[in-house]
Amino acid sequence: MEFSDVKIIQLPKFTDPRGNLSFAEQLNHIPFEIKRTYWIYDVPGGESRGGHAFRKNEEFIIALSGAFNVVVDDGKSKQVFQLNRSYYGLYIPAGMWREICDFSTNSVALEFGSEHYSPENYIRDYNEFKTLKDNGKL
Ligand code: TYD
Repeated sequence: MEFSDVKIIQLPKFTDPRGNLSFAEQLNHIPFEIKRTYWIYDVPGGESRGGHAFRKNEEFIIALSGAFNVVVDDGKSKQVFQLNRSYYGLYIPAGMWREICDFSTNSVALEFGSEHYSPENYIRDYNEFKTLKDNGKL
């Protein structure tokens, strides 16, 4: 997978004096069928989480509240995506190392995945990830 596959996707936004509304549909704004949703919350300011890659799992991440950076690494270089609006999502294909950093206090990261949770799907060792990438196995 290449960086060109990683995308910030703008979501619909209905501005309203009663409060704004946004939404996301699978196979439309989110370019895969959703099998899993999880969220990270009650995060102390400045924390980082999620340093890993997926063998098989596409992701779509929204900063539902607050702000954080998603550092995406293809094994050769890194790119930082700042998420700080609830009407943008970041699409990350499988096979990329990613870490979520610099959470603002009480931010909420909402994540959609194309696969059910399975520990075997995770690569948590960066050197293993790098070796798989260098050998074209990821
Ligand atoms: P973990 O993957 O370690 O978090 P991070 O993204 O920061 O690396 O997940 C923390 C715990 O939650 C771990 O014990 C696995 C569990 N978990 C599930 O059971 N299902 C899920 O969908 C997720 C994302 C995590």
